[in-house]
Amino acid sequence: MIPWELLGKTQVPGDSGELRLYRRGKEFSIRVNSSELMNSSAHGSEEALAELACARIAHRSGPRVLIGGLGMGYTLAAALRRLGPKARVVVAELVPELVAWNRGPLAALAGNPLQDNRVSIQEADVAQVLQAEQRAYDAVLLDVDNGPEGLTRQGNDWLYARPGLEAAFAALRPGGALAIWSASPNPSFSRRLRQAGFKADVICERARGPRGGGRHTIWIAVRSS
Ligand SMILES: C[S@@+](CC[C@H](N)C(=O)[O-])C[C@H]1O[C@@H](n2cnc3c(N)ncnc32)[C@H](O)[C@@H]1O
Repeated sequence: MIPWELLGKTQVPGDSGELRLYRRGKEFSIRVNSSELMNSSAHGSEEALAELACARIAHRSGPRVLIGGLGMGYTLAAALRRLGPKARVVVAELVPELVAWNRGPLAALAGNPLQDNRVSIQEADVAQVLQAEQRAYDAVLLDVDNGPEGLTRQGNDWLYARPGLEAAFAALRPGGALAIWSASPNPSFSRRLRQAGFKADVICERARGPRGGGRHTIWIAVRSS
């Protein structure tokens, strides 16, 4: 068995958590304190997050998309595959070191999506980016944590609570879609989405796509007006 090698570590801004990047052969793992946030061997549901959201806005010309949480770049790469040449994708990533890892050891995993000229990156909390503009995005994709239950930092609870959902609603253009990834189902979160004005579908996706794996939850919530 090849041992895990620690490639880098950094503090999560505004929190006591420590983020670590490990490699074992071709496999990479990002861990927060002692929990695994993400592993490169399973990214089917991260890609599905982008595919489901982009399918909802496929008819729009030059769509603008906000992705919260870069991770290993799989959601971003899947969005870029689905979107046309006029699309613009803003990625908000809280942890600057994560961006550096995606330009370094993680770059090839998802095919170097940060090099695509449709992408701009903001090293910032997606909560701030969301609140900076209104009616600005055709889709907002959030995979910043384990889902509404949180893992990386307590500050992310705001995003999944009523004020954060209302900010996402305001940041979307009418008919735009908010897509949210979660490790587990959460019926009370579905209710919160409806209370914030969204029409929401809940979709179950497998961690390894057609090869199975764990079941993850994706909400696709549409701003109807
Ligand atoms: C599970 S990973 C995302 C995985 C990604 N969907 C992919 O395909 O690789 C979560 C990411 O969100 C980032 N993050 C956590 N909280 C954030 C926030 N409030 N704003 C922006 N990024 C955040 C983490 O640093 C990490 O890069």
